[in-house]
Amino acid sequence: MPKKLRAGILGYGRMGRGFVAAMQDSELWEVAAVYDICDQTRRLAAQQVPNAAIYDDPDAIFGDASIDAVGLFTLADARPQQIRQALANRKHVLAEKPIGPDVSTEWQLVREIEASDRLVAVNLFNRNAWYHKDIQRFIAEGEIGDLAVIRICHMTPGHMPLEGHDPEGPPFHDCGMHYVDVARWYAQSEYQSWHAQGLRMWGHKDPWWVQAHGTFANGVVFDITQGFIYGHLAKEKPHHCYVDVVGTKGVARMRHDFAEATVELYGVHKTLCKTAAFNDKKLDVMVDVFARSILAGKNLGMPQARDSVIASEVSWAMLNDAISHVPPVRGTPEEMQQILEHRRNLVNGFGLPVKTQKQPESELVPD
Ligand SMILES: NC(=O)c1ccc[n+]([C@@H]2O[C@H](COP(=O)([O-])OP(=O)(O)OC[C@H]3O[C@@H](n4cnc5c(N)ncnc54)[C@H](O)[C@@H]3O)[C@@H](O)[C@H]2O)c1
Repeated sequence: MPKKLRAGILGYGRMGRGFVAAMQDSELWEVAAVYDICDQTRRLAAQQVPNAAIYDDPDAIFGDASIDAVGLFTLADARPQQIRQALANRKHVLAEKPIGPDVSTEWQLVREIEASDRLVAVNLFNRNAWYHKDIQRFIAEGEIGDLAVIRICHMTPGHMPLEGHDPEGPPFHDCGMHYVDVARWYAQSEYQSWHAQGLRMWGHKDPWWVQAHGTFANGVVFDITQGFIYGHLAKEKPHHCYVDVVGTKGVARMRHDFAEATVELYGVHKTLCKTAAFNDKKLDVMVDVFARSILAGKNLGMPQARDSVIASEVSWAMLNDAISHVPPVRGTPEEMQQILEHRRNLVNGFGLPVKTQKQPESELVPD
């Protein structure tokens, strides 16, 4: 077996731990070092990744010539400097999205990344999903005719205000950029026009629910609904997550509940239905394609920084459009406090993104 690739991890929070677990399960990776700003988190890393060096400063990772690649899993504000330091030290990069805290910094980074000879993958996890690949293959076979309408919904009891992720922005950017990317990926065209409506749930300053609709340059139309407002205090936590692609002749659609995904394909020659594991963020697929790309010296299908930045730019613009339409307020600050308190006491299951570093088994959470 070839020598394993050596990874240095920056940020051992929820995503960092997920990526490390995927690398530990992979034959292609060895986690060589972990850095996190938080002392308690470093202690957790020392327990869970006993063979890795644990650092309170990232320079030791960038300066280690034996490290092939870095995983950048802190928040958006730290990423630009870390990407630049990685490229300067000739490390390949696996970065979380967004790659920076504002669009002009992100575009500057794209220019630097594309001018470098290093491979940079960004975790647009939907692009690694079996269900989207199945649907896109069906569309490419001509089964639904010409693509006409893309409808995407992602409503869950996810991240609340005051629970972190401030540099990533409100949910329509933090999470919604994934679905802005998915619609563009399906349309194979650039966004042309949109109108967005928001809602300031619980009187919070930012809209926590946004719906945008509009057109792509090729005439395909879309609507995207995203909100972390779905049943927070319901006894059983619900989700409403789907992609519905309407063609001139047929339909291809999927829905998921974070445990399973179901694809239903209504084509002119065949009707197919498949249910299989949702597989959360598909980090196993991501670390595999990233490793194989490094070994091959070319991109074998990794999601790209340019796509991430377009999704980030357009989702900020749609969010700002929603804000310009003066989103109405529903609910009260007291309800928001009740939800925050409720979530602090949750221990596991869907709809329960508990901020604890002691319970990694609770990390299959919706967002
Ligand atoms: N692709 C996806 O589907 C997806 C899903 C969730 C989060 N994310 C992204 O992943 C990133 C991490 O999110 P998370 O949910 O894991 O957050 P988190 O808060 O759980 O983890 C962040 C970790 O980084 C550490 N950290 C923060 N700033 C740091 C710095 N300057 N130097 C070193 N360590 C630092 C924190 O101590 C924490 O351990 C975010 O950018 C988020 O947008 C992506």
